[in-house]
Amino acid sequence: MRSTTCSRPCRPTTDPLRDTVKRSVGTPQEPARARGSGFPPGFLWGAATSSYQVEGRNERSDWWSWEQQPGRIVGGDTSGEGADWWRGRAEEDFSRAAASGHNAHRLSLEWARLEPAPGRYDRAAFARYREILEAAKAASLAVSLTLQHFTVPQWLAARGGWTWAGVVERFSAYAARCVEAFSDVVDHWATLNEPTVLAQGGYLGTRWPPGSGSFAAYRAALVNMLRAHREGYRAIKAVRAQAQVGLVLAMPRYEPKRAVWRDRAAARLHDWVFNGNVLTALADELLLPPFALRPRRLEGLSQSYDWLGLNYYGRYRVRFAPLAFGAAFGRHEQTDSIRTATSDWGEVHPEGLIHQLRRLAALGVPLYVTENGVFEDRPGRQVEYLDAHLEASRRALDEGIDVRGYFWWTLVDNFEWAEGWGTPFGMFALDRATQRRSPRPVAALFEAWAKGRPPRR
Ligand code: FCB
Repeated sequence: MRSTTCSRPCRPTTDPLRDTVKRSVGTPQEPARARGSGFPPGFLWGAATSSYQVEGRNERSDWWSWEQQPGRIVGGDTSGEGADWWRGRAEEDFSRAAASGHNAHRLSLEWARLEPAPGRYDRAAFARYREILEAAKAASLAVSLTLQHFTVPQWLAARGGWTWAGVVERFSAYAARCVEAFSDVVDHWATLNEPTVLAQGGYLGTRWPPGSGSFAAYRAALVNMLRAHREGYRAIKAVRAQAQVGLVLAMPRYEPKRAVWRDRAAARLHDWVFNGNVLTALADELLLPPFALRPRRLEGLSQSYDWLGLNYYGRYRVRFAPLAFGAAFGRHEQTDSIRTATSDWGEVHPEGLIHQLRRLAALGVPLYVTENGVFEDRPGRQVEYLDAHLEASRRALDEGIDVRGYFWWTLVDNFEWAEGWGTPFGMFALDRATQRRSPRPVAALFEAWAKGRPPRR
């Protein structure tokens, strides 16, 4: 997760779950381990992508119109042909992944392609997604499929996007359609990707569509996303009771900049707004301020996930800032951040991955690291990052945390939202002019881990 003076979510830090979680975590069992790696047999090893970022020409999505507006994307970049998945290169990338030791892939569907107008579903788009999903299965990849990864159809955006009261019903109808169409080629379903990030980037903030810049829109969007998740879960289960359905959360780590009470309080507040509040809603079905002016119940939410996904990138150090009302009274000040010209992605901090997995483990369902990665801001960065975070995942397993898979963000360089093309996260570098891919060193390291041969230290 990145922050520009909080253009991406700034959030909170207490651990309300520690005391409040009702689900029982059970006695952790020591999982059987594959020799050498420290990871159990059946562990999912893969990379993650999202439809808008790789497919190209998602002309009916809200992001497409957004990126055409001057000043929205760094350097005036546009997604263009992406990594050309829609026209046929998903297939070769799956083969590439499989040849590099992957046994799973996380991807998403573009709602705007499948339902280009309200209630009108596009057969050709369903057919192309079927090809894509079948290709993943043919490459022996388990498929983790997300129904909504940040983008929405333009017709939905025109009605207010996630602030529109009708969005919950529309989303669950769309979810049911997708499960009817694809349940034979999908292993795990996720409803939404990172609701807090989208709510902050597009509704509280102005850097992402719809660019509301309003606290009321932020709150409405986030609450509607949680409701859409719950209704989507129910709709999917009504079509296919055995479907494994989860939610993917971004959970950066927030810690005080200095060991003083003001910074501690600011860090706790950031964690509360961004992480703790959602975890409390998932555990206790309670929406608390600032997401509800008065505490509100979201009945059934605690029964609406079979697994949870953690997207973890790094740590923010929070310094108290009394006048920063819109930034929850804190500024992020890291000494060793991963930075771009416009964003601060936080410090590399593998320990934070274990910390957030522990918190999620309290919810009592299997966990997946659904995103973790870094762009190659200097040679060797990705390799060090992957190694350290896999080591952290292994330690989480040693603690008995039920982590069942790890997905690197991302397989091949792609369009990084408001950052454009300037943050190459791929295991495979992309030459956009020729669409040629070439492996970065991290690809070989990933393969070694996945095959149970992590480097010796
Ligand atoms: C995550 C998003 C993903 C990508 C990575 C770098 O927050 O889910 O689409 O932008 O960050």
